[in-house]
Amino acid sequence: MRLILAPMEGVLDHTLRDILTRIGGYERCVTEFVRVIDRPLPPRVFHRACPELLTGGATPAGTPVFLQLLGGDPAVMAANAHVAQQLGAPGIDLNFGCPSKTVNRSDGGSALLREPERVCAIVSAVRAAVDPQVPVTAKIRLGFHDSSLFEDIALGIQQAGADELCIHARTRQQGYQPPAYWSEIGKVKPKLRIPVIANGDIWSPAAALQAQADSGCTDLMLGRGALAFPDLALAIKAQQGGAAYQPMPWHEILPLVIRYADTLTGHAPKYAASFIKQWFTYLRRQYPEAESLFQHIKRLKLPAEIKGAMIFPPYGFTQDSPP
Ligand SMILES: Cc1cc2nc3c(=O)[nH]c(=O)nc-3n(C[C@H](O)[C@H](O)[C@H](O)COP(=O)(O)O)c2cc1C
Repeated sequence: MRLILAPMEGVLDHTLRDILTRIGGYERCVTEFVRVIDRPLPPRVFHRACPELLTGGATPAGTPVFLQLLGGDPAVMAANAHVAQQLGAPGIDLNFGCPSKTVNRSDGGSALLREPERVCAIVSAVRAAVDPQVPVTAKIRLGFHDSSLFEDIALGIQQAGADELCIHARTRQQGYQPPAYWSEIGKVKPKLRIPVIANGDIWSPAAALQAQADSGCTDLMLGRGALAFPDLALAIKAQQGGAAYQPMPWHEILPLVIRYADTLTGHAPKYAASFIKQWFTYLRRQYPEAESLFQHIKRLKLPAEIKGAMIFPPYGFTQDSPP
């Protein structure tokens, strides 16, 4: 079984990839999307999305990081995939799932699921532009309005030469509304020979088991669940190996959030504060301590104030919960 850390724009950056892959359990990460419009992008854009390119394309824990591209023009996507590969990306992932309206207006993401031929043309152009040793993977949803084109798209992506397919088990229309329809993946999975990765709403080891049973996939991608439950990948693997697992307590998580906050100093304070709060919006699902801290920091605007709240009592470290 492989677990892949999902791409999450605006929250899951290289520092969080580092933190989560050091905790362990992941076979791969995918970067936030790099938006491709009408020309090859300069190397600095790829390095910004994926600083790991400078260290062999892997996180410090050694987990490979695939570079994700989002765009609608096959030739331009192919040219950018080639640049990414030249810069050392260990794999290229193509985003056909992003529901954002701004992204879709600029032609890419899930909007393309209405045009299976263009999805296939992009996969095929990218496959031809990168070294055959470098995997090309695609990430889709079940469809745009509905899942009527799902099977055609999945088979087309395979036919176009993708090495793997990750499926977020909802349509664009369904947004992030629970549930995720893992059994929809299960209807198409037997027709595919490439590895298929199931994604969506895997918040716990029990959900991972259910997603595997319903989708027929052994490999899973974890997004929000990995942020809420930073050692979720280890917990899933322990469960599947029949071992007992004790999730990390809050006093081991909090120093990681502080470390994350410390790396955000290069951002404008407003953005740095928003990144930290974003992680808290997920952590509060799992940890009551994160919920009370979140209630306290949600109106704070400066990262230094947020850090103070994370360090000092009553919400930060106490004598009972040393750093
Ligand atoms: C804040 C946020 C940002 C995301 N950014 C990306 C992205 O850059 N590329 C992508 O393919 N998917 C992106 N996604 C979708 C996730 O990768 C994933 O498919 C989705 O959240 C469902 O999985 P989950 O329930 O495990 O979170 C994003 C999702 C969220 C919530």
